[in-house]
Amino acid sequence: MGLTLGEGGTPLVEATALSDELRMRVFLKCEGLNPTGSFKDRGMAVAVGRAAERQAHTVVCASTGNTAASAAAYAARAGLRSVVLTPQGATASAKRAQARAAGACVLELAGSFDDALRCCRELAERDGFALVNSLNPDRIEGQASVVAEVLEQLGATPDVIALPYGGGGNTCAVARGLDEAGVVSRIVAGEAAARSTTWASAIRIGEPAHAQEVEELRQQGRVDVQTLSEEEIGAAWRELATREGVFCEPASAAGLAALRRTGSGGVAVCILTGHGLKDADAVAEEDAPVVQATIDAILAAVA
Ligand code: F0G
Repeated sequence: MGLTLGEGGTPLVEATALSDELRMRVFLKCEGLNPTGSFKDRGMAVAVGRAAERQAHTVVCASTGNTAASAAAYAARAGLRSVVLTPQGATASAKRAQARAAGACVLELAGSFDDALRCCRELAERDGFALVNSLNPDRIEGQASVVAEVLEQLGATPDVIALPYGGGGNTCAVARGLDEAGVVSRIVAGEAAARSTTWASAIRIGEPAHAQEVEELRQQGRVDVQTLSEEEIGAAWRELATREGVFCEPASAAGLAALRRTGSGGVAVCILTGHGLKDADAVAEEDAPVVQATIDAILAAVA
């Protein structure tokens, strides 16, 4: 068996309240239930496995956090060193902790994600180094598996697949998965209008690495890119947790936010890319009120 931590096989959950609101059947593909808590694991298993076969000693990536956590875990399992570059002060602490826990060399770069990716591309030209960002085609190949899984779980082809658009690797992977399955679904991709500063730190990417491919897909009428305000992303994220009980990280809600703009009946699958616990700080920290240990005091507090 190749390199695996049991990625894939994530739940597809019907979103009943949202289906009523959007007047379409909405399903949530909960990719946060992958081994390291994000969709990255599907492609990382393939990319790190192939890097090991090619005798690499070190995998490198630039990351807003999830790629780092995933690369670190799979590298640990494959016995490879991992070096991850994250934009300074701009990633969720749980994601950096995951990477460190797996023994990665985590460097906070004095620069943006885009600067980090430039450095990694250069580093990867050295002997024994392998780039495991989504510019590595092995990542896209592994990530495409989500489509076949959705088709099987749904027992049908969805009219729409909605997802966040950060660097665009996932958009390309889903398009590829649809091609491989020989089916057609419209892809609705939500990007933050405030790309370089968005609160949804996982998609804080100024220059999408796959911009040209996404543009080609858009021109072919296969991808509809929606540019979202911070409020739209935040509202979709809150709604998923409070109305459906599904806690994802902020960036993951961009697909639903985009779908809310374009909703058109039929069946939609929103790919929720990362678990809410990845970025628990996104939930405004309100001090829980302290109450006396009496039923009256508790009932008064929740009235
Ligand atoms: N959602 C989450 C939770 C992500 O972590 C990312 C990307 C995306 C969506 C966007 O996917 O780039 O394929 O369009 N995270 C990368 C990282 C940049 O470093 O973890 P995309």
